[in-house]
Amino acid sequence: MQKLQAELSELLVDYEGEFHLADINQLHYLDLVIKETLRLYPAVPLFIREVIAGKSPTLGDYKIPEKTQIFISSWAFHRNPNHWQNPNEFIPERFIDAPPPFHYFPFGAGPRQCIGMAFTLFCTKVKLVSILSQYLIELEPGTTYDTQYFSGTIMPRDGVKVKLSKK
Ligand code: HEM
Repeated sequence: MQKLQAELSELLVDYEGEFHLADINQLHYLDLVIKETLRLYPAVPLFIREVIAGKSPTLGDYKIPEKTQIFISSWAFHRNPNHWQNPNEFIPERFIDAPPPFHYFPFGAGPRQCIGMAFTLFCTKVKLVSILSQYLIELEPGTTYDTQYFSGTIMPRDGVKVKLSKK
């Protein structure tokens, strides 16, 4: 939070208290924070593929029969200790270097990757900058990070209670 606020203050000083949409992409730490949040909490934690009829592809050591349904868990990939150091810790700096392909895919991957990805990331940044430029945010003590699965997406099980104080 402190690093984000510091980055934002710098931008707001440069632009005399205002922020400009075109400059949102200069906020590199904000970008790392959003990436790390979506690593630990991919909004779509699981997706499914089905082998088409008449095909039987080989994946690694496995020959997969036609029409097999394959469940792919981004949640599990994103927390795999073989691929991530301290996988359960929130460390935005781990995204300074891009992860190897297919280790991180909060918006899916390949030809069916989410078409709303750039739009969503931009909207998230605009919203966060609007809030963080005016308020300090503190998490209510005792808040859990537990999630529940609902209609293909995850959400905070007990809500997220925060205290906003005007800057
Ligand atoms: C936080 C926001 C979002 C997340 C986490 C998200 C995530 C995903 C994921 C994981 C997939 C791939 C599903 C799969 O491979 O089976 C997907 C596909 C898709 N998303 Fe999103 N999405 C988000 C927002 C949006 C928005 C805002 C739009 C539209 C403006 C959108 C439109 C689509 C469409 C049309 C597909 C299907 C693409 C295809 O199958 O060719 N998404 N999304």
